[in-house]
Amino acid sequence: MKFAALCALIACVPALVRAAGTGNPWTGATTFLIPEYVQEVQAAVGNITDSTLAAQAATVEQVPVFFWMDVAAKVPTLGQYLAAASAAGGTQVVQAVIYDLPDRDCAAESSAGEFTIADGGAALYEQYIDNIAAQVEANPNVRVVFVVEPDGLANLVTNLSVAKCANAASTYKELVSYAISKLQQDNVWLYLDAGHSGWLGWPANITPAAQMFAEVLQGAGTGATVRGLATDVSNYNLLRGAEDPAQSPNPNYDEELYINALAPLLQQNNFPSQFIVDQGRSGVSGIRTAEGDWCNVLGAGLGMRPTTDTGNDLIDSIVWVKPPGESDGTSNQTAPRYDTHCGQSDATQPAPEAGTWFQSYFETLVQKANPALS
Ligand SMILES: *[C@@H]1O[C@H](CO)[C@@H](O)[C@H](O)[C@H]1NC(C)=O
Ligand SMILES: *[C@@H]1O[C@H](CO)[C@@H](O)[C@H](O)[C@H]1NC(C)=O
Ligand SMILES: *[C@@H]1O[C@H](CO)[C@@H](O)[C@H](O)[C@H]1NC(C)=O
Repeated sequence: MKFAALCALIACVPALVRAAGTGNPWTGATTFLIPEYVQEVQAAVGNITDSTLAAQAATVEQVPVFFWMDVAAKVPTLGQYLAAASAAGGTQVVQAVIYDLPDRDCAAESSAGEFTIADGGAALYEQYIDNIAAQVEANPNVRVVFVVEPDGLANLVTNLSVAKCANAASTYKELVSYAISKLQQDNVWLYLDAGHSGWLGWPANITPAAQMFAEVLQGAGTGATVRGLATDVSNYNLLRGAEDPAQSPNPNYDEELYINALAPLLQQNNFPSQFIVDQGRSGVSGIRTAEGDWCNVLGAGLGMRPTTDTGNDLIDSIVWVKPPGESDGTSNQTAPRYDTHCGQSDATQPAPEAGTWFQSYFETLVQKANPALS
């Protein structure tokens, strides 16, 4: 509570007590392992008969991933994890994803959510955010890092020609602003999702993207802030490396080039320019036929492990946001949430519904890990 002493002297409004977390949240802290993922990996290891592969797979349970609150019913579980982290002592970081916008995934099918705009979803979303805020306030000694709404704002930069996105645009912006305004506690670090290099990194998209993030932050009100942006969430791009032919001729063909190009545009718009980058499944490059392909990409391997040793001051940490082994979407063409990307030649098939465990895919991710698992 940075302003506690001041507040003891003057009658300040509660809003003044709030001040978003500052500095790199992972510095001097231990990252909490999400028990759900540890259990998924342990069950998966139990099903691997090759002993070398099983031993490699077992090391993955020690890698911190993010906890996805993709339905409001998962918010109490966040509360349990925060309480467990608090009880564990020391300085703990709990990592979670805020992912429940009404009319979610407006340009695709595979990750449609529980709330719709037509059915009061905006008010339900505000309740969801309020409940998240209550959980972080109940555990003030735990650092909480949130990735905010994967794909949400990025869809508004490039996909307004999709009717569902055009219809959702003002609601998405207002609700992300709402989430920012309610999550200004000094134990919270927010990273808004910023798509990835092969999406918003293109020259035609990068400036409108920076303006979009700034507009949404302004909508959160004077004094509200975020730590920065998250890139490559659930995607497959390298942080840095040789150009993937699928990205050609994008000058910002990897995440670091994208971040280096985006940061000055953010600064011009008074938006904080720190980043985190998902590398959970980015170990192998050059495996996609088109840069927009995102579904259970065939031949992918686990990528860089989470570290704050990123080689770039703009990047707070390499992270694993998407839990490797959980499916991106079903390949069942008659399922309601089927998206054509999950039936393409560079998508692994047959694949189960988004978010559910995909054992054979997990095994190839482990086999093809780069750096290799020992
Ligand atoms: C959304 O935008 C991306 C990037 O421009 C594009 O590749 C994709 O086809 C669009 N999706 C739809 C459904 O129009
Ligand atoms: C595919 O989805 C349909 C519709 O939900 C379902 O009836 C069918 O059993 C599914 N097929 C497979 C192989 O899971
Ligand atoms: C793992 O093995 C158990 C027991 O044999 C089985 O019930 C379960 O379906 C298997 N899970 C996967 C993901 O293969």
